[in-house]
Amino acid sequence: MRVLVTGGAGFIGSHLVHRLLASGQHDVVNLDALRYSGNLDNLADLTGHARYTFVHADICDATTVRSILRDHRVEAVINCAAETHVDRSILDPGSFAKTDVVGTGVLLEESRQAGVHRFLQVSTDEVYGSVEIGHSKEEDSLAPRSPYSASKAGGDLLVLSYWTTYHFPVLVTRGSNTYGPNQYPEKFIPLFVTNAIDDQPLPLYGDGRYRRDWLAVDDHCAGIEHVLNHGQPGAIYNVGGGNEKENLTVAELILHYLGKPKSLIRFVTDRPGHDRRYAIDCSRLRGLGWQPKVSFEEGIRTTVEWYRTHEAWWKKIKSGEFRTYYDEMYGRRLQEGRACGS
Ligand code: TYD
Repeated sequence: MRVLVTGGAGFIGSHLVHRLLASGQHDVVNLDALRYSGNLDNLADLTGHARYTFVHADICDATTVRSILRDHRVEAVINCAAETHVDRSILDPGSFAKTDVVGTGVLLEESRQAGVHRFLQVSTDEVYGSVEIGHSKEEDSLAPRSPYSASKAGGDLLVLSYWTTYHFPVLVTRGSNTYGPNQYPEKFIPLFVTNAIDDQPLPLYGDGRYRRDWLAVDDHCAGIEHVLNHGQPGAIYNVGGGNEKENLTVAELILHYLGKPKSLIRFVTDRPGHDRRYAIDCSRLRGLGWQPKVSFEEGIRTTVEWYRTHEAWWKKIKSGEFRTYYDEMYGRRLQEGRACGS
C-alpha cells in the first residue's frame, strides 16, 4: 500500500514509519511540519531509502496536502500529526485546536476528495476523560477535560462523521500513555529518566497517585498497523498496554534501574484539571488478533537503557527551546516543591 503518515518525525510517527517500511509491504510518504517535537534525527537511518519520501509541510495546508496525495497516489492516510502535551495545551490552547481539529479536518477532506481507501486517525484514551473506576469502551461518551483532549475529541468526531455522512472509510485508534525511545523529553517518562541521569529533581505532580495505563511504542504501532490492515471502516479501537501504574511507582522504577536515590523525587504543585486515571477496555482490538507483547518492567528497563546510551539525542533537545519551556513550567514549582520522604 502507498501510505501517507503525517507527523512521521515525531515519537509515535517515526516508530510507525520504521515499522511500515520494515514490513516490506508499503511505500511511505512522511508529511511533517517539524515543529518543536518533530525531529529528523529520528529518521536519519532512512536517508536514501527507496520506498520512503519526506515532505516538510503542515496538515493545515490544503494545497500541499492535495498535491502530495495526488503525486504519490496515496491509498491510505495515517494521521499522527498532533499537538500532544497536556501541559503545553494549558499554556497555548489555540495551537491545539488548530492542528488537532482544523488540521485533521483539512487532511480528512483532502483525503476524501482524493479517493483515499483508508483514513486512520491516531487518537488517545484521554478523550474519555478521567475514569475513576472501570474501563472505557469505544462507544462510551466522551468527556475530555483539557484543551489537548478536547481538541483530540473534536478531531475524532469530525473523522467519524465522515463515515456516517459520506461512507468515507475512516478508522480511529485510541492509544493509552505511550513510552519508549525517541520520545520528546517533556513527557513524564523521558523527562524523569533524563533528569535522573543528570541528577536533577523529578517533578511529581500532586500526590503522585495519578494512574496511567502504559503502552510500549512498539505495541502501539503494531496496534495501529493491525487496525489499518484488519479494522472495520467506521470503527474505533482502543489500544492499551494493560499496565496500570501510579506515577510514583513509575518514578521509583526509573530510579531503581538507574541506581539513583528516591530523594530526587520532588512533590510539586499539581497540573490544573489533572485527570486522576485513564483506563481502557481493549477487548475489541484483542478480538481482531492484536495483543501487547512488551511487559512494563522490560519496556521501562530497555527505555531507560536507550536514554542512557543516547545522551546526544536528548541533550540536543534539552539545551534548545526546551529550556525556556522547562523554566516556565517547573522553575517555581521546583523551588517550592517537597522532597520525597521529607
Ligand atoms: P504525561 O506524560 O504528560 O501524559 P498525560 O498527562 O497525557 O497522561 O503525564 C503522565 C502522568 O505523569 C500524568 O499523571 C502527569 C504526570 N506528570 C508529573 O507528575 N510530572 C511531570 O513533570 C509530567 C510531565 C507529568
